[in-house]
Amino acid sequence: MARSSRRQPSWLSLSLSILLLAVFMPAVMAVKKHDFKTCEQSGFCKRNHALADDIASKGRDASPYRLDPNTIRMKNGQVEGTILKTTSDSERIKLPLIVTFLDSGSARIQIDEEKRQRGDIELRHSSKARKERYNEAGSWALTGAGLQPQKLGKFDKGDESTTVTWGPSNQFSATITYAPFGVEFAVNNTKQVVLNERGFMNFEHWRPKIEKPVKEEGKEEETKDEPAVTGEDESTSWDESFGGNTDSKPKGPESIGMDITFPGFSYVYGLAEHASPLSLKETHGGEGNFDQPYRFYNADVFEYELDSPMTLYGSIPFMQAHNKGSTVGVFWLNAAETWVDIVKTKQDSTLGLGGHMDTQTHWVSEAGVMDIFVMLAPTPKALSKKYGELTGYTAMPQMFGIAYHQCRWNYVSDEDVKDVDRKFDKHNIPYDVIWLDLEYTDDKQYFTWDADTFPDPIGMEKQLDEHGRKLVIIIDPHIKNKAGYPIVEELKSKDLAVKNKGLNIYEGWCWPGSSHWIDCFNPAAREWWKSLFLYNKMKGVQSNVWIWNDMNEPSVFNGPEVSMPRDNIHYGNWEHRDVHNINGMTFHNATHHALISRAKGENVRPFVLTRAFFAGSQRIGAMWTGDNQASWGHLAASIPMILTQGVAGFPFAGADVGGFFGNPSKELQTRWYQAGAFYPFFRAHAHIDTRRREPYLLGAPYTEIMAQALRLRYSLLPSWYTAFREAATDGTPIVRAQYYVHPHDEYGFALDDQFYIGSTGLLVKPVTTEGDESVNIYLADDETYYDYNSFKTYRGAGKHITVAAPLEKIPLLMQGGHVFARKDRPRRSSGLMKWDPYTLVVVLGRDGEAEGELYVDDGETYEFEHGAYIHRRFKFEKGGLASQDISASWTPKDNKKKSAYLKTMESVTVEKIIIVNVPKSLESKTEVKVAGDGVKSGTTANLSYHAAGEGNAAWAVIRNPAVMIGADWRIDLEVGGDVKSEL
Ligand SMILES: *[C@@H]1O[C@H](CO)[C@@H](O)[C@H](O)[C@H]1NC(C)=O
Ligand SMILES: *[C@@H]1O[C@H](CO)[C@@H](O)[C@H](O)[C@H]1NC(C)=O
Repeated sequence: MARSSRRQPSWLSLSLSILLLAVFMPAVMAVKKHDFKTCEQSGFCKRNHALADDIASKGRDASPYRLDPNTIRMKNGQVEGTILKTTSDSERIKLPLIVTFLDSGSARIQIDEEKRQRGDIELRHSSKARKERYNEAGSWALTGAGLQPQKLGKFDKGDESTTVTWGPSNQFSATITYAPFGVEFAVNNTKQVVLNERGFMNFEHWRPKIEKPVKEEGKEEETKDEPAVTGEDESTSWDESFGGNTDSKPKGPESIGMDITFPGFSYVYGLAEHASPLSLKETHGGEGNFDQPYRFYNADVFEYELDSPMTLYGSIPFMQAHNKGSTVGVFWLNAAETWVDIVKTKQDSTLGLGGHMDTQTHWVSEAGVMDIFVMLAPTPKALSKKYGELTGYTAMPQMFGIAYHQCRWNYVSDEDVKDVDRKFDKHNIPYDVIWLDLEYTDDKQYFTWDADTFPDPIGMEKQLDEHGRKLVIIIDPHIKNKAGYPIVEELKSKDLAVKNKGLNIYEGWCWPGSSHWIDCFNPAAREWWKSLFLYNKMKGVQSNVWIWNDMNEPSVFNGPEVSMPRDNIHYGNWEHRDVHNINGMTFHNATHHALISRAKGENVRPFVLTRAFFAGSQRIGAMWTGDNQASWGHLAASIPMILTQGVAGFPFAGADVGGFFGNPSKELQTRWYQAGAFYPFFRAHAHIDTRRREPYLLGAPYTEIMAQALRLRYSLLPSWYTAFREAATDGTPIVRAQYYVHPHDEYGFALDDQFYIGSTGLLVKPVTTEGDESVNIYLADDETYYDYNSFKTYRGAGKHITVAAPLEKIPLLMQGGHVFARKDRPRRSSGLMKWDPYTLVVVLGRDGEAEGELYVDDGETYEFEHGAYIHRRFKFEKGGLASQDISASWTPKDNKKKSAYLKTMESVTVEKIIIVNVPKSLESKTEVKVAGDGVKSGTTANLSYHAAGEGNAAWAVIRNPAVMIGADWRIDLEVGGDVKSEL
């Protein structure tokens, strides 16, 4: 939850303007664009762009960065050297370079500034900040896996460049040119990624401030008259003001910049989080383009606008470039404010062989070392794996985490919560989690309860627990500054809060009014945070209570750009500017670890939702897209945003269902539930000023249609969980864009309104336009697709098909060739489904075969890490369906856990197998043979055949084959030879 419309910019004038504000309240229902900087208002962005324009006019050779050949050394998979920057005063600035070829196959380019490495600089304003450039982003974002240097193939040092080859059959090469410095990455001699191709590299070295007569803001002419110091227009180099706040910038200008070109690529993706299409747009203006670069500066953007490169709550500076032949990635590891420019240019072939498109990007960050990872892969899937090797994979959630969450600001009392809980049951609508926004606290003091409205939290939690349900409560990083509040007293006495530039405790305004902020960069602060969550310390909380971390960008109502001053100081004396985009992740992680350790031996997976995030946050928990609006546009925009989260390696993502601000129409809310049922994270949420909108309140036919969407989500939970497992081991998105599933089909590269669920072959296109009663779905491949319910068939490689979508219908297709699992018995919560039998849906492909996977574990604990899980491959071939174990088995101890777990699962069976697209030869068949572990020989099961109808496929149902979900088995249809599709 963000600031409400009641928020106003200066809290100091609160008392004076409260009346005025109330009058103007309705007028502020739009993003306050002027609260946030444009590139021109961000000094370093402006300087880097001026430099780029200057170089572009002079030519790349004007770039003053040269790698000194005499310094180049090769050792242990690393190339080291020194880049010399020649300043306009002919001074040579030494920039140490390390290029590492990692065993994950990626390359890492690190550039630092020697003078600052040695701490040989002076800070202005007697600042106590660290003198080095920030070099610890990796310790938060990277897992340490895949970072070891690998053996290189060729190392060929020439007069103008050095070439290194590596990887299987030396297919990867990096050519490092000296003058100007640049690196060209190729796969099998095809150029894929080029650094500094355009010469925009910039490294603002430390320099003392030479006092000159003070210039007035906005007096452009004066700066223009100064001698041209390339890219070093000093008007924004020192103290910098915006929106009434002045940043003291004790280190002066220190930005870095690099241009990165993807030759032959016309599509780029990633750069979460922005409310932008999946296929990233150009940023230099012109028809359909943005006129600002994509910005990363985690911020509480009130009522964000759609189709915009404006910064939002989280930052993942990772980009994928994709063409039919390959997928490459760049991860710009930097936690400071960052801007990314994108331009696509047609390159005409000089040989007349037809041109190709290049995507040229330009990355600039305010501070820190330069740390760039380049990843080369054949496909998006392979690239996801590589990126995950660096930053980690999705944490496996508990089953309830991927079920339905009911939230609003606010359920007003424990009786209110209990009443909502009963009403869901009364209307037979499943849900797993109910949420409390900040009004549950006593006077916005976290770790307390409002004694009047929540007199008996434990009683409330116990009622929820009766049906396996959970409670999530909000806890934010701002701690109310109020005498006698024990939490703030401890925070202060233990010295664990973020400090201001004078090294005194920082004070700002947020929900509780005057507040301090816990500094989770400090290990002692994280330890203290842990202690607050211990069951014997935290009041009114039992083991079915989990946490929501909001406002962790951090949001500061009276701070610059609604956040902290950049010259604030964190643990280790790093400035806030250095760590800003990582800040939210450290808090999210601290809460996660606090929940792991709230009781000895509990061993359950925590659930913590976050709003702010960075690369690596996927290892911790879920995110949502913040404060959206109850509009059709926001419903539609949620899909590319969630798809982009998948590309960016953080796929456990959702948007507020129904829209946070405003009241959705019944139609909009219903359509939103139908879409939300396909978000990896599925939560309804609403602003305090909105009308109540729990699904049972809407009445006929809406309530029942929403309930159906919810039941569909619950029935598919086994398949969703399997998709999470894939994300947790391979980094694959949970919902997958068209280009991701069909990487060779160019038509689909920009499609972002339809998507696949994991590897199930389920293809959905939610209705996101008011009044629409049908949708057009694009089918890339030659496989047959079937309507999820009616088995109506659709074919057409490279064609659009029309699917009817009256209000009660979600356009959902099944791609031939897949097997997926469901649980079809309706229950009140996912916890109550734990021992329910499975339904397998087998959708035969044109070749008469189908394949799919199922992953199962206890849905709660970490025992799966020690072998306590089931992982099966179902394969339909040669006229029968077989289940095969594909779980790994490691140590004998793990294998023991595995068999113990399998024993608990013996009663869980397959109760139904639905086979779609069966041959007519099954018509007279009524029985099938069942064989396998624990199955008596000669066992059979009943089969019923359903003939093909008008445009619908024939299908068959096998009832109660009673095979165990965790065992090997085969069910034979005995149709003689291969089953061939009728279609
Ligand atoms: C998460 O917290 C743990 C425990 O305090 C710490 O060891 C780890 O470095 C933290 N990681 C991140 C990404 O914050
Ligand atoms: C590069 O060539 C090698 C050897 O011919 C081949 O195995 C590999 O798949 C190729 N790589 C790509 C990405 O095309």
